[in-house]
Amino acid sequence: MKAIVYSKYGPPDVLEFKDVEQPSPKDNEVLIKVQAASVSLSDWEGLVGKPLYARIRGLFKPGNRILGSDVAGIVEAVGGNVRQLQPGDEVFGLIPNYSGGFAEYVCASENSMALKPAGLTFEEAAVFPQAAVIALQGIRDKGQIQPGQKVLINGAGGGAGTFAVQLAKLYGAEVTGVDNSRKLDMLRALGADHVIDYTQEDFTKNGQRYDFILDLVGYRSVFAYKRALNSNGNYYMVGGSVATMFQVLLLGSRVGKAEGQNIRMLMVQPNTKDLLFMTGLYEARKIVPVIDRSFPLREVPEALRYLGEGHVNGKIVITVEHGNNN
Ligand SMILES: NC(=O)c1ccc[n+]([C@@H]2O[C@H](COP(=O)([O-])OP(=O)(O)OC[C@H]3O[C@@H](n4cnc5c(N)ncnc54)[C@H](OP(=O)(O)O)[C@@H]3O)[C@@H](O)[C@H]2O)c1
Repeated sequence: MKAIVYSKYGPPDVLEFKDVEQPSPKDNEVLIKVQAASVSLSDWEGLVGKPLYARIRGLFKPGNRILGSDVAGIVEAVGGNVRQLQPGDEVFGLIPNYSGGFAEYVCASENSMALKPAGLTFEEAAVFPQAAVIALQGIRDKGQIQPGQKVLINGAGGGAGTFAVQLAKLYGAEVTGVDNSRKLDMLRALGADHVIDYTQEDFTKNGQRYDFILDLVGYRSVFAYKRALNSNGNYYMVGGSVATMFQVLLLGSRVGKAEGQNIRMLMVQPNTKDLLFMTGLYEARKIVPVIDRSFPLREVPEALRYLGEGHVNGKIVITVEHGNNN
């Protein structure tokens, strides 16, 4: 099969479009004929090997040679213990080890995949798995947002952020979205009440305070985040630098204790129930997936370059046309 493969960390130039052996499903797995995949920041991090946590499966060279975690496709074959899915089913989901999706075929455990709702195209479905579940577990589960609360989303213009802005509005919050200037109009269109250009203004230094902060790109100190929280406010970090992560883990529960503030990590638990909750909101016309543009499989390097340059509004989709990938 055709796939996008790499064997060392580096810029998008290290990626090659080539023939590799098609995987075969283990007992609990399904083989998926990929129709669409989406590109996430975790793919960029896995490509360049930064932050350091991106090297968890290979310190000096990538442990998995094919990137791509979010896929939508058709079940081609099933392993011996698979009970719920069968060949021909249209499915979508997050591949458990966050790899293998930028290919014509990929294997994933049966329980990581959900049946694709008929109201979504494969391209739309591929946008949801990682990003929508991060947003749901951040805003609904950790945030427990009440109407009128002030919520800030840092990194609001990306995959998870665009879902998080819409969810926070749905729960009645007053929402501030932080991202670069090219994405601010889109954030307003999604319902953000206030926007901040991170290249011009530091949201931890402008005197504003929030009840809940969801941080998709945390690079500051815990003391800066404490300053931006109201009493009893909560901050959750999803991604960012390892230095900030350690600070949050070591000091986060202590620095704001006197004011009832919490500064914590959000460890996302992928599950198909949350995934279908989010696609259900789309089918009910309460949220939309934001798709910037799509690229064919062979152009994954260009897609990742485009992401790395900071152009992407929401998500990029990779389309896979079988038999037309030479
Ligand atoms: N905790 C977990 O369990 C877990 C699980 C999966 C993923 N993650 C993490 O989740 C994070 C978010 O993923 P995603 O797919 O939503 O990313 P994404 O689509 O790339 O979105 C990130 C957004 O943040 C913006 N940004 C970059 N630097 C910023 C800054 N200093 N201040 C404010 N905004 C900034 C980016 O804009 P530019 O275009 O300007 O760069 C982009 O719009 C990633 O770090 C990933 O590793 C965590």
